[in-house]
Amino acid sequence: MRGIMVRMREGVNGGADRVCFLAMNTRTGGHRRFAATWNWLTAHEGPKQRAARERVVSPLKGRVLEIGFGVGTNWAYLPEGVEYVGIEPDPYMIARARRHAAAVERSLELHQARAEALPFEDASFDAVFTTLTFCTVQDVPAALREVQRVLKPGAEFHFWEHVRPRGRVLGPLSDLVTPVWRNVGGGCNPNRRTTVALRKAGFEFVSFQRVSAPPLPMVFGRAVVAAEAPAEVAPILESAPQG
Ligand SMILES: C[S@@+](CC[C@H](N)C(=O)[O-])C[C@H]1O[C@@H](n2cnc3c(N)ncnc32)[C@H](O)[C@@H]1O
Repeated sequence: MRGIMVRMREGVNGGADRVCFLAMNTRTGGHRRFAATWNWLTAHEGPKQRAARERVVSPLKGRVLEIGFGVGTNWAYLPEGVEYVGIEPDPYMIARARRHAAAVERSLELHQARAEALPFEDASFDAVFTTLTFCTVQDVPAALREVQRVLKPGAEFHFWEHVRPRGRVLGPLSDLVTPVWRNVGGGCNPNRRTTVALRKAGFEFVSFQRVSAPPLPMVFGRAVVAAEAPAEVAPILESAPQG
């Protein structure tokens, strides 16, 4: 394990410097080429992608956790006053994010960690958010249990994710291309049923929208831990073909 001190300025008008400790393990593998590709893609995003990020990030308040910050693309959309904490497992993503962090005029607390094992106390965040991350997380149920654990009671999980397409052709087609897609796409699964996984994990939606965005549908939403497990819908969800 190698420790790296990251110094970032807090506040545009000469606020105090804040030092955040990022413990980085460079031997955890990662996707060097995909990190370079993602860095380029996110630097050249169009209005739709930028609007999607703003939609998820701009309403956040309090102490918030981003899971899978990638190269740090969402930092541009954080509202003032938010206390930001981010995790990301891939050392190549982190290396690129660190360069972007130097240009961000706010404090950022960054950790190398996986969603399945969040290094934070129970009930320690006012919100958790992800953008295009749950397609890549290896153990989705474990990660969602961790999200629930670190959210304060009643706090919301905000997300923008792509999901498995519906239909007799596109759904199976996404299953077929998944092994190749995963290989070139940094572990991304185009047939991920994230909506189903959220419901099965015991989340209920405060807001939810599914948007057609070929080649893969997108879902936007905010979810809270349901008061009771939705036992009666579980069998339906098991066979539901949608994301
Ligand atoms: C397609 S990128 C999206 C990055 C960023 N969220 C964005 O919107 O630009 C997927 C990210 O999820 C991260 N990731 C993969 N497995 C993860 C895990 N188990 N826990 C947290 N993040 C993970 C990847 O390293 C990568 O940075």
